[in-house]
Amino acid sequence: MDFFEVIHTQRSIRRFKPDPVPDDVIWKMIDAAIRAPSGSNLQPWVWLVVRDQAKREAVARAVRERLEAEGRLQEMRRNAEQLETASRRLSVRRAVELFENLAAAPVLIIPCLIGVTSPVSEARSLFAGSSIYGAVQNLMLAARALGVGTVLTTPNIYVEEMLVKEFHLPENAIPACIIPVGFPDGQRFGPTTRKPAETVTYWDDWGAAADRRD
Ligand SMILES: Cc1cc2nc3c(=O)[nH]c(=O)nc-3n(C[C@H](O)[C@H](O)[C@H](O)COP(=O)(O)O)c2cc1C
Repeated sequence: MDFFEVIHTQRSIRRFKPDPVPDDVIWKMIDAAIRAPSGSNLQPWVWLVVRDQAKREAVARAVRERLEAEGRLQEMRRNAEQLETASRRLSVRRAVELFENLAAAPVLIIPCLIGVTSPVSEARSLFAGSSIYGAVQNLMLAARALGVGTVLTTPNIYVEEMLVKEFHLPENAIPACIIPVGFPDGQRFGPTTRKPAETVTYWDDWGAAADRRD
């Protein structure tokens, strides 16, 4: 599959078939992830692949309960009705559905930042994240190229303690996100629409837009 076709059709998939994802496909995704750059090439990551149903259900339960308790699911349900475009409403409805049952994905991948010291040692800073989120994107692009759906989700922020206990994470490991993985069920890849590049690019000085001729 052409590289740019992968990029332009990689998008969040939130509904999955129950079919298992073959191990060799998961390995290919991780092999792509770990090609990413990281500060001082320290590769400060571990890829926790969760296939076990009981464990996926434990994560799903923790996420659902915590997001309900925080009022976040209720807020998302309200947003889902109020957003302007039908496609945004559908995306949020699907995001709610996914958080109601994260275990519907046959695999959850939890990338963990571990022992990061470059570009900074403060593991929870934006700059530490730069040493793992590029790899996360590689993983998701590889999945797309293989016909596998993924979505970067961040409920790990709310259930970190549970993840630490359930998966026996060492003290210096921090879950960076939770990526549900599976074959898409009734959802198409791309086209991935975004604000045009010309509207978010300045040349040589802040605010200096340029006409685009290509
Ligand atoms: C940092 C980050 C956090 C995200 N968190 C969530 C999330 O918790 N749940 C979810 O369903 N999608 C999440 N997403 C996916 C975005 O909603 C999605 O990428 C965006 O709406 C664009 O849609 P597309 O990927 O289908 O093009 C997250 C994406 C990023 C980059």
